[in-house]
Amino acid sequence: MEKLRIAVFASGRGSNFGAILKNIKKGELDASIVAFISNKKNAGAFDIARANNIPAYFVSTKEFPEQEQFDLRILEILETHNANFIVLAGYLKMIGKNVVRKFKNRILNIHPALLPSFGGKGMFGHHVHEAVLNYGCKVSGVTVHLVDESYDTGPPVIQRCVPVRNDDTPETLAARVLKIEHQVFTEALKYFAEGRVQVFGRRVKILPK
Ligand code: GRF
Repeated sequence: MEKLRIAVFASGRGSNFGAILKNIKKGELDASIVAFISNKKNAGAFDIARANNIPAYFVSTKEFPEQEQFDLRILEILETHNANFIVLAGYLKMIGKNVVRKFKNRILNIHPALLPSFGGKGMFGHHVHEAVLNYGCKVSGVTVHLVDESYDTGPPVIQRCVPVRNDDTPETLAARVLKIEHQVFTEALKYFAEGRVQVFGRRVKILPK
């Protein structure tokens, strides 16, 4: 089993990035994070990368307005660091088809709701939790899924429920969901690190240890 050499992509503060890193350091996940990529120059996640000596890259859509050129730059970075796995931890840009194809079933995204509900373009951050509360849902949750060529449509690897409370605001619900996100991302990565994932169409099966 080849060890996971993960490239983390994030556009925001990167608390999921931080949680994965912490779990690697604690020895809970046998993997290394070999590169960090962001499409946002001032993403807070850059601080995490710098503090941990992880090579960090800003890949801008201004510099590479065409998806194909953007993808080529991403692939170049991934190759430089010999990355064999991609983690999208709050990355707010679509992953181009050339990257998806090259990393087939090797890209995970995390979404702060139970897909296929409350997903797709524009459904990120507080928008998701607002929509869940406005609908009146009694449960929400977390989905860790494989990434395909559109937003939030790849097959789930783990889904976990989180209760919605009577007095929830988008902020309190987000905090409860985030706590679970920090657990399940590592859990899903462990399945891959242990070679226990099999994909049959949309069914992702986790083999017993
Ligand atoms: C998380 O809620 C994640 O589900 C979503 O974006 C948010 C990123 O949070 N995809 P953080 O930057 O990891 O704190």
